[in-house]
Amino acid sequence: MRLDVVSIFPEYLAPLDLSLIGTARRQGLLDLHVHQLRDFTHDRHQTVDDTPYGGGAGMVMKVQPWAEALDHVVSQADPGASTTADVARPRLIVPGPGGAPFTQAMARELAAEPWLAFACGRYEGIDERVYEHARADLGLRVDVVSLGDYVLNGGEVAVLAMVEAIARLVPGVIGNAESLVEESHEDGLLEYPVYTKPAVWQWDPADGRESVSRDVPPVLLSGDHGRIATWRHQQRLERTAARRPDLLHTSAALGAEGLADADFRIATPGDLGELLTLTRACWLTEAMVNESFEIPPLHETSESLAASVGEWDTYVLRAGGRLVGSVRGRAVDGVWHIGRLMVAPDLEGRGLGRWLLERIEALAPPEATGFHLVTGALSERNQRLYRKAGYRRLPSAEVPGTVELVKRRR
Ligand SMILES: C[S@@+](CC[C@H](N)C(=O)[O-])C[C@H]1O[C@@H](n2cnc3c(N)ncnc32)[C@H](O)[C@@H]1O
Repeated sequence: MRLDVVSIFPEYLAPLDLSLIGTARRQGLLDLHVHQLRDFTHDRHQTVDDTPYGGGAGMVMKVQPWAEALDHVVSQADPGASTTADVARPRLIVPGPGGAPFTQAMARELAAEPWLAFACGRYEGIDERVYEHARADLGLRVDVVSLGDYVLNGGEVAVLAMVEAIARLVPGVIGNAESLVEESHEDGLLEYPVYTKPAVWQWDPADGRESVSRDVPPVLLSGDHGRIATWRHQQRLERTAARRPDLLHTSAALGAEGLADADFRIATPGDLGELLTLTRACWLTEAMVNESFEIPPLHETSESLAASVGEWDTYVLRAGGRLVGSVRGRAVDGVWHIGRLMVAPDLEGRGLGRWLLERIEALAPPEATGFHLVTGALSERNQRLYRKAGYRRLPSAEVPGTVELVKRRR
């Protein structure tokens, strides 16, 4: 991975020569280049800032040195490295308190990029035309990214934090890749408490008070891996609830274990408003994928949805008080018809669809001998889920633009 950082304080980035990141650089896993913004000025004082148009306090970083610095970074593309457009240009990250929050998910996304460039602002920030130049003239993808809801003096500290979080996810940088799996934020929960030897630690206060013995929780010494895993998971939930309750809304619905706490039940009139919203959100994606807006769920109204709840067994999945999924079923001539399987778009890819499918199959009446589903002919993702669950596609479908899938009940 190539990293370019532009700053008026290149020395600020010196810690990136230390520890695991430094080792990764020496091993050639990370190719880091730090550029002095002042090298791209043309006046005697190497001026990088000026007063803001429209008045106001502070100074603004000038467009000219920034544009030249970015032109220089982009010109470093190695023509032999690859011919793809992605590698020929860096993705530009501009740290800023007004940016999208930097998260573990973003670190993971950025760790997959072959080339990142960082522009460290100072003063009141960078002239807006620098962003326009990067996007429009250099063809860069530009993301403004915030370390948190507070204001730093400059982007360098943010870049240090981001590069460390990103680089440790680059394959080979951390020797034991397994240590990355169970960390805080990897699946929306915080990490469990950790302990090392000795199992009993004694503190003898100098003021004559009684000594205190602090023990490692006995379950960790039990050798029973099942119990240890359960204890750790419980600790993660408790710790997250205590320190970051905001995370539990989504993380409660992440894995099958979390779902045990989630509320899966028959839809009631009180669910219909949110169900209509979820239906529109989910089928808008389907409409885009299938290049058609003639999809019935997209045209559902409050009234038609309320009527359908009388005709189908409609189930809703709630986690952290929020409607995160739904599915429905009805028996017709001994076949359990499954429909409207939906997962909130921000929670896709976490196994919720598979879970809902298993649940609705299990709710089929005893006399049902098989299952039946309809999905968009171009809905690759849905079709993959159903194929994996053992469904096979019928040679033809009643409605053009759809496919019908069936599975025998075991
Ligand atoms: C004093 S700040 C400028 C703040 C700017 N006037 C505003 O209100 O958005 C100077 C520089 O520090 C960096 N910075 C400050 N807070 C940051 C944060 N929370 N995350 C990332 N970068 C930050 C950015 O590079 C910013 O351009």
